[in-house]
Amino acid sequence: MSEFDEYIRQGEQGPKEKALAWQTAIGLQDVDGLKPSEYLLDTAKRHIEGDITIDEVKGLLDSYYKSKEGRLLSDKERTEEADKVSARITELLQENTFAFNPLEYKRIHKRLFEGIFKFAGQYRTYNISKQEWVLNGASVLYNPFENLAETLEYDFEQERKYNYNAASTDQSIAHIAAFTAGLWQIHPFGEGNTRTTAVFLIKYLRSFGFAVSNDLFAAHSWYFRNALVRANYTNREKGIAPDISFLEMFLRNLVLGEQHELRNRDLHVDAQSENENNSKCKNCTLNCTLEELAVLQFIKDNPKATQEMIAKHINRSQRTVKSMTIRLTEKGLLVRKNGKRDGWWETVNLV
Ligand SMILES: Nc1ncnc2c1ncn2[C@@H]1O[C@H](COP(=O)(O)OP(=O)(O)OP(=O)(O)O)[C@@H](O)[C@H]1O
Ligand SMILES: [Mg+2]
Repeated sequence: MSEFDEYIRQGEQGPKEKALAWQTAIGLQDVDGLKPSEYLLDTAKRHIEGDITIDEVKGLLDSYYKSKEGRLLSDKERTEEADKVSARITELLQENTFAFNPLEYKRIHKRLFEGIFKFAGQYRTYNISKQEWVLNGASVLYNPFENLAETLEYDFEQERKYNYNAASTDQSIAHIAAFTAGLWQIHPFGEGNTRTTAVFLIKYLRSFGFAVSNDLFAAHSWYFRNALVRANYTNREKGIAPDISFLEMFLRNLVLGEQHELRNRDLHVDAQSENENNSKCKNCTLNCTLEELAVLQFIKDNPKATQEMIAKHINRSQRTVKSMTIRLTEKGLLVRKNGKRDGWWETVNLV
């Protein structure tokens, strides 16, 4: 079965023709014993789905095969890098350690790219720009290299000051999105910033008590990166303002379990905004903080959880958990069934 059969069966005229063309092209290569890379297959699918034009396919492939120094990388080298780093992401996420500071961010980069990039765990010493498909080839303005450390320190300090206990889940998600977008815009490393941001963000969200993994990031890595691009790009001449809504949608899927469609083509600066907005809002009307939501989700999965277990899960004292469960009960979001000793918890209205 070919990679593109699905499109040929399901597609309308356009996608079907494109899928057939790709199948033929790849089939022809196969005759010579050449196998397409995962990246090509992925890019071909984007083309078939109408995300990108064939010129953009060519542009993407060109930049994909060029390293930062302009050296051509073989597909094997690329795949090897991506595979090794994926394994390291998994490894890092199995370790239950986290510190909310720039050193941790650096440490993650070092762990992910040691032996792969010479500059693993070191800030860049030159300015960078990167052409983006979603920006018609323009680049985000990245932080100048001279003050990377100070800017990182400042962003962490600001985020540390924010009181999540006084914010609704909506406000909290918006705040985490803004912090993440700011962190990514600094781009302190020559390469590998997006993956470092993803791992850091996962660990940060886990510190709130959310059981998040890398799956959504890996499956939508292009979307995640493009959402960060759009959150940081301004072009006054063309009337394009930074748009954080894509990143918020991603986070809402991740944290609140909503099901927004994450389509790359919507992220293009020329995309028509479809205002039907697929906001399948699930837990956004719950009157609670982000940490309380994490507790509710944990309780939903573990109805027999003791206060001790919950406290351990969110890294708080049992006293804090106790007042939290009382508050959630008062708000009508949590019910204790069958008494204190042999009872269990039931969440109300949690999807
Ligand atoms: N969270 C992730 N998990 C696994 N693979 C990822 C993840 N994010 C990105 N990738 C893969 O890593 C490769 C490089 O991704 P990309 O260039 O977008 O980001 P980066 O190198 O981490 O950051 P940047 O280029 O912005 O400094 C791609 O093959 C991409 O699919
Ligand atoms: Mg990269």
